[in-house]
Amino acid sequence: MDSHIVRVFLCRQISGTIKLSSHFVHFDEIFSIFNHFLSDFIEKRTKIKAVNMTKITAAITAVGAYLPKYKLTNQVLETMVDTSDEWITTRTGIKERRILKEEEGQGTSYLAIKAAEDLIKKRGIDPIEIDMVLLATATPDMPVAATAVFVASRIGAANAFAYDLQAACSSFLYGMSTAASYIESGRYKKVLVIGADKMSSIIDYTDRTTCIIFGDGAGAVLFEPNEEGLGFQDEYLRSDGQGREFLKIEAGGSLLPPTEETVGNKQHFVFQDGKTVFKFAVSNMADVSAKIMERNNLTDKDVHWLVPHQANKRIIDATANRMGLDHEKVMMNIERYGNTTSATLPLLLYDYERRLKKGDNLVFAAFGGGFTWGAMYLKWAYDAN
Ligand code: UT7
Repeated sequence: MDSHIVRVFLCRQISGTIKLSSHFVHFDEIFSIFNHFLSDFIEKRTKIKAVNMTKITAAITAVGAYLPKYKLTNQVLETMVDTSDEWITTRTGIKERRILKEEEGQGTSYLAIKAAEDLIKKRGIDPIEIDMVLLATATPDMPVAATAVFVASRIGAANAFAYDLQAACSSFLYGMSTAASYIESGRYKKVLVIGADKMSSIIDYTDRTTCIIFGDGAGAVLFEPNEEGLGFQDEYLRSDGQGREFLKIEAGGSLLPPTEETVGNKQHFVFQDGKTVFKFAVSNMADVSAKIMERNNLTDKDVHWLVPHQANKRIIDATANRMGLDHEKVMMNIERYGNTTSATLPLLLYDYERRLKKGDNLVFAAFGGGFTWGAMYLKWAYDAN
């Protein structure tokens, strides 16, 4: 076989660099080398394909929050309007709410920045890594420009694009949906969703039907890709424009720009037909929560936590009953914060974070002005330590 010795030039690609080697080898040695490269190539291609086919889900990887220090208690409200601690507690479940007072002159961005900074510190990331900042809010600092843009710059998210999202009390739920879609598309890796509202800026503290309900606060979550199938699973989001008459701020927009008259008529404050909103909220929040369970074959035993918008304890109880959930599985902090609009859901996650376990099934549910409402099924992705 010596006569069959040939000079062979082999091009080998190792770690991305081309190496040329010159050898004297036998034919059968050539075949063996060729065979080796071929099977190596096929194996690598299969692995790459397998990685590409892994479904990316969007998971929450960190939570942050901020609450102003001042507590507006039911007892203080008793001195402001014709109400009682007993009425507020039995009708709503609220005992106190936080108001942004001590930092006078600050808007919603102040709350949002604090919550985002808390999250960034806890997660230990460089804000430069954040791709997008979504601010769910009904109380932007000003109508133009978007508050999210200011917040992104102030927290050092210099590579992010940012915008506000407004869907009243469903803003944060819709924001989570948007964030999950961006992550699952593969276009972005870190999406920060903040829910922040300075409700005290749009509440008439002489109106006992609204001033006992709302409070100020902010919460934030970070969405990142997950390859273990954790995070976002399903959602059912709805809206119905016939609801806008029942929960609104009438003036200050393009329909009724501000005038001395609109200010005099207190049309820049929240108006709510509580009874009607209550009726729609009870049935719709329960409906979508039951629907998301049914669609995902979840029984009450499979659901570890209900994360419900904190508008009224009676609405939350009705939703939990319809889902067949025990009281212990229902996240609740309405007694301490009231209704913080866009911040209720992340504030619940913040308060319950240490009790959440990797793989827990969470059902989020919200209802708000518009009307807007929906439910989301998400698998928790980490154990807090
Ligand atoms: O988060 C966005 C979505 N919002 C909601 O989901 C809120 C839904 N609505 C509610 O939570 C409840 O409707 C409220 C808490 C706003 C009101 O509770 P309610 O049981 O529906 O009370 P109501 O409006 O039917 O009023 C009952 C009575 C009325 O007196 P009369 O007419 O029966 O004499 C009210 O004037 O309670 C009176 N009332 C109060 N009394 C003491 C209303 N507000 C107060 C108050 N203190 N703060």
